[in-house]
Amino acid sequence: MSSAARVIDPTTTPAWTALRGLSATVGQMSLREIAGTNRDFLRFDAAEWNLDASRQRVTREVFDQLLALAEQTHVLAHRDAMRTGDHVNTTEDRAALHMALRAEPGDIWCDGDIDVVNAVQTEFDRMAEISDRVRDGRWLGSTGKRISHVINIGIGGSDLGPAMIYQALGAFRDPRITCVFVSNVDPVDIHDALSACDPESTLVIVSSKTFTTRETISNALQAREWLTHTLGPTSVATHFLAVSTNIPAAQEFGIPRESVVGFWEWVGGRYSVDSAIGLSLMIALGPAQFRDMLRGFRDMDQHFLSAPPERNVPVVMALCGIWNRDFLGIESVAVLPYSQRLARFPAYLQQLTMESNGKSVRRDGHPVSYPTSPIYWGEPGTNGQHSFYQLLHQGTSTVACDIIVIARPDGSELLMHDILVANALAQASVLSMGRSADEVHDGSADLVAHRVMAGNTPVMMMMTGALTPRSLGALISLYEHMVFVQGAVWGINSFDQWGVEFGKVVAQGIEKDIAAGVWDDPTLDGPTRHSLRAFLERRERG
Ligand code: F6P
Repeated sequence: MSSAARVIDPTTTPAWTALRGLSATVGQMSLREIAGTNRDFLRFDAAEWNLDASRQRVTREVFDQLLALAEQTHVLAHRDAMRTGDHVNTTEDRAALHMALRAEPGDIWCDGDIDVVNAVQTEFDRMAEISDRVRDGRWLGSTGKRISHVINIGIGGSDLGPAMIYQALGAFRDPRITCVFVSNVDPVDIHDALSACDPESTLVIVSSKTFTTRETISNALQAREWLTHTLGPTSVATHFLAVSTNIPAAQEFGIPRESVVGFWEWVGGRYSVDSAIGLSLMIALGPAQFRDMLRGFRDMDQHFLSAPPERNVPVVMALCGIWNRDFLGIESVAVLPYSQRLARFPAYLQQLTMESNGKSVRRDGHPVSYPTSPIYWGEPGTNGQHSFYQLLHQGTSTVACDIIVIARPDGSELLMHDILVANALAQASVLSMGRSADEVHDGSADLVAHRVMAGNTPVMMMMTGALTPRSLGALISLYEHMVFVQGAVWGINSFDQWGVEFGKVVAQGIEKDIAAGVWDDPTLDGPTRHSLRAFLERRERG
């Protein structure tokens, strides 16, 4: 049995028992009390980022027991199993080697006996060649026009990473090329994209690990129809590219082998942005910037693989999250980037965190008796401040907050950027420390109760100098490893998504019923039959 398969119920460890005890005492302390002690052990530097965990409700004693929990659940052994290509994705019998995607020459990463670094480099070179040809105008459309628009069709991990990073690295893009991201099977998504593009100067990239995803194939068929309607069937060869592990299916779709860039089963969908799934991004940024982003990922990988647990940023972040979730009962995390460029980062993290760790059985199939992934959501600051922060400050639920701060702006608007950062620091302060009745000096006495703020919100603050390919890569890698460590402590498989798969099967059956105009399908439950009937009637009536 591999080390990956040895699963420990974390609640049976001495550290879990100790943490339970501490939750009754420290859990009652306010952050004001806790913050009065030395907090330097909760401030870290790694790969261009500072992580400040000093606003977590974690005392030295709690911290030590969290580290003991990581040790007693064999987190580092599990990390090393992932590093050496063990099939840590037990239910799909696969390795999780996304760190190999950012390998540098000389690094060794193996899937079983096979060294994967050469294969990664070969596909990277193919992506770079395609990107350069599109960027410098050597890749022409079938009527000889230069490519000005790239449509990436994909969903989940085949969309969220490229779309998020495209926006995040807006300052690094080639202005001559616009990328459009289409994911939803709602036809308005593809139709809006197509109507913004000219087929003669558009390249469509069908991004799908499996090349079977209903949304992606439906959108790709629409795009193909749009293209061939104007430019004829032979245009597919010059206007379509595919990115997939399922090369035969891409070829069957009509995309020539030389226009298919591959990747591997050991890259999970939500860990795939560094693979060929990032092709649209590489076209927008250029291979050198893309490589720089991979360096940022690798910087954090190296830190994760070598730093001792008490100074290991992904480990510490994961353990603080476990303290909040399992011992303080905090059910959700708001991701609050003080950066408009990172507007899609919360959505990206939703898949990474919740598709990975939204599980309720351990790897050995036993149900868990403790909470696993919290709910992730969020919006950029300062917009969120004028929306849901009221609940964060004075509502009846505690929401842990990840505040992301970029010290320097993209452009020259220093003053406005300073206003942005002042807000981030103010919110971190108010969320964690609150405001007591004695501190309410303004306004009438009968409003004091309305103006008191409990504080005590655990805030994790991440800060970097500038949002660059390298710092962004490191930030994403930080969250990837944080998710891994939490999954390791909880004893779950962070790399499968069976819950998502079942919904796809049920939708296929209903699709057939709709096509046949049938609502009384005995395989469906009563309420669904009722909804289907209502839909068919309403569709008829308009
Ligand atoms: O949503 C489930 C899922 O399987 C994700 O894990 C994946 O990123 C997405 O669908 C897209 O899958 P594919 O790349 O195979 O089209």
